[in-house]
Amino acid sequence: MSDHDIQLNDPQTLYRRWEESQWSPFLIDLDRDREQWAAMSGEDRDLIFYVLSSLMVAEERITTKFSGLVGAHGSEEEATFLSTQQVDEARHMQFYARFQDEVVAAPDLIAAHVERARENVSDAFRHIFDEQLVQAHEQLLAEPANLATKVRFVTIYHLILEGTLGLTTFKFTTDHLSAEQLLPGFVEGYSKIHHDETRHIGYGVWFLRETVKAMPETAEVLRQALRDLLPSVAASLAPPDTGSDHGFGAIGATTEAIREFALGGLTRRLDIIGVPLASLQG
Ligand SMILES: [Fe+2]
Ligand SMILES: [Fe+2]
Repeated sequence: MSDHDIQLNDPQTLYRRWEESQWSPFLIDLDRDREQWAAMSGEDRDLIFYVLSSLMVAEERITTKFSGLVGAHGSEEEATFLSTQQVDEARHMQFYARFQDEVVAAPDLIAAHVERARENVSDAFRHIFDEQLVQAHEQLLAEPANLATKVRFVTIYHLILEGTLGLTTFKFTTDHLSAEQLLPGFVEGYSKIHHDETRHIGYGVWFLRETVKAMPETAEVLRQALRDLLPSVAASLAPPDTGSDHGFGAIGATTEAIREFALGGLTRRLDIIGVPLASLQG
């Protein structure tokens, strides 16, 4: 593909799309989910419980470790789009919290749901969300005008967490639930979240491509963030010590299929950005 053929969506285009894509986490029908959840047992229930715990923790982090990027905007159009992403992430957290309130557990504060969910996530997952993301966000808050800091944050947040971990988790979870006709309300909400995520990832690819083009030295910051995070992403997509009781082993997806999907998407996005995956070794 030549440079000419790539149509990237700039923040203003993404903002206009957001205006046309509003939804409410409180209007999704969860009646069927409640019945099914009460009757569910074994691997299906374990899998959903594991995925829900991960999503609950991830969206809390993703929501509360974002405002630094809004403050680091480069234009009014970018500030506008980033404000919408902040709202989206809060909405996603609200949907998972409602699912905890009404299907999995009982009504409680979001903090209580997050705390309970934390007991079920892996060490690799904790390393990504509680250490790497938190540090990158603190650095951005301290130095909003430092473009290298912003490149590291967007690489971790948009390219790795949303673009690689998030899209892969969505694909294998919803493929399985749809095939088994399980939890239709959850699948509907998660699909709306996924639609929002495609805008967020579009922003990340746009920002990284523009920045690397204008300042080629920032490519190394991007590469270093990938080197720092990818081992933990691989570990959290295929938890090594939990076998088929947790994670995607339970839905019959092979480690190779998961790896191929995750790396395939990352490879395509890195090609568009202009920092090929192969350049990590060089
Ligand atoms: Fe989200
Ligand atoms: Fe997002």
